[in-house]
Amino acid sequence: MRVLVVGGGGREHALCWALAASPLLTKLFCAPGNAGIAEVAECIAIGAEDISALVAFAKDKSIDLVVVGPEAPLTLGLADACAAAGLKCFGPSAAAARLEGSKTFTKEVADAAGAPTAAWARFTDAAAARAHIREKGAPIVVKADGLAAGKGVVVAATIAEAEAAISDIMEDRVHGAAGACVVIEECLVGEEISFFALCSGTAALPLGAAQDHKRVGDGDTGPNTGGMGAYSLPPIFTTALQEDVMARIIHPVLSEMALRGAPFKGVLFAGLMITAQGPKLIEFNVRFGDPECQVLMLRLKSDLLPALLAACDGELARFDVRWEALHAMVVVMAARGYPGGYAKGSEIRGLEAAGQVPGVQVFHAGTARREDGTLIATGGRVLGISATGKTLREACDAAYAAVDRLDWPGGFCRRDIGWRVLK
Ligand code: AMP
Ligand code: GLY
Repeated sequence: MRVLVVGGGGREHALCWALAASPLLTKLFCAPGNAGIAEVAECIAIGAEDISALVAFAKDKSIDLVVVGPEAPLTLGLADACAAAGLKCFGPSAAAARLEGSKTFTKEVADAAGAPTAAWARFTDAAAARAHIREKGAPIVVKADGLAAGKGVVVAATIAEAEAAISDIMEDRVHGAAGACVVIEECLVGEEISFFALCSGTAALPLGAAQDHKRVGDGDTGPNTGGMGAYSLPPIFTTALQEDVMARIIHPVLSEMALRGAPFKGVLFAGLMITAQGPKLIEFNVRFGDPECQVLMLRLKSDLLPALLAACDGELARFDVRWEALHAMVVVMAARGYPGGYAKGSEIRGLEAAGQVPGVQVFHAGTARREDGTLIATGGRVLGISATGKTLREACDAAYAAVDRLDWPGGFCRRDIGWRVLK
């Protein structure tokens, strides 16, 4: 089979790495890819959001399956464009991808499906939003409704903080048009988990869970990022909990989406809070998480390619996903300054030595090679130093041993990935 992966981050490197191991694969392309992906796939200089160029390339190269990593091309209709061109695509239609694009839409679907989620209300008027905050009290959560690059959420400990968020989002429009409307939510308390399900309309198969570390600093401090590290499987996520999430959140939401004429195909990523009252939905994403995908791919025993095909072909019911009896961890190395401004072009050395630590797999995110072969950093999140082990401690020790072999003064990482369970 000839496969095209769309994207160029750590998630796409992990997907390409897993697909490259499939005996069914004959040729792997990635657009645009990165320096690590170039070792397992042929990288093509087409941007992940250039829908018409991606479809034309896939037609021209007789691609059997297009696998979409990030949400942006899905929101822009890449899956729809592939379908129109007679190409098989793993990823939801633009209509189904609204589960990630609009918080209001997600809350409406969750309520209609009876899926447990935080109580919420939506406001387009700042005075009404402030009155609601005073009525409900703190802690309380304020969210810009549209896409705000993951920065539109304020978990306010006090009423004053929540009211300040209303000023910033609705009046000062710090996130632009995304702040025309806010969603105000009950603050959920518990452990946050990323859960993944392979979906094909109303059929779904659990793909396991991971815990991300979204804050930039040790001890979960500092600003939010795309994710600074993850591990799998979180011990809190038992089989019974997984069955509960499938029965009360994933299956009802899939049925509701089908009812609305937007059946979901691809991987559904549920951000969950495991509260004292059970799992509650925080948000959906319509793709694999990054860096969660890296640890899932390391633990996956089954061939990824037929699993993705089964989701595309509506044959999930006959499928079974098997896992290695291993724990996995990924430590993200980012360019100094991330998630704020950072320099590009710094040299990274020691990657080969890092990769020789037993159990370690290095996934690239923002990397490129100069003409002389030197590896350089080109993004905010740059490398995902990943490892497996018989215990989480073993995986953690291997990942950090590899981190310590790197020679990259321009980079940094969190030193405490997994702290909630390793403490
Ligand atoms: P979101 O963009 O909706 O994923 O929110 C970003 C982060 O804010 C989440 O990962 C949670 O850590 C936090 N968050 C969002 N909604 C809530 C909520 N209702 N209660 C507590 N924390 C929340
Ligand atoms: N790591 C969280 C995300 O991919 O959105």
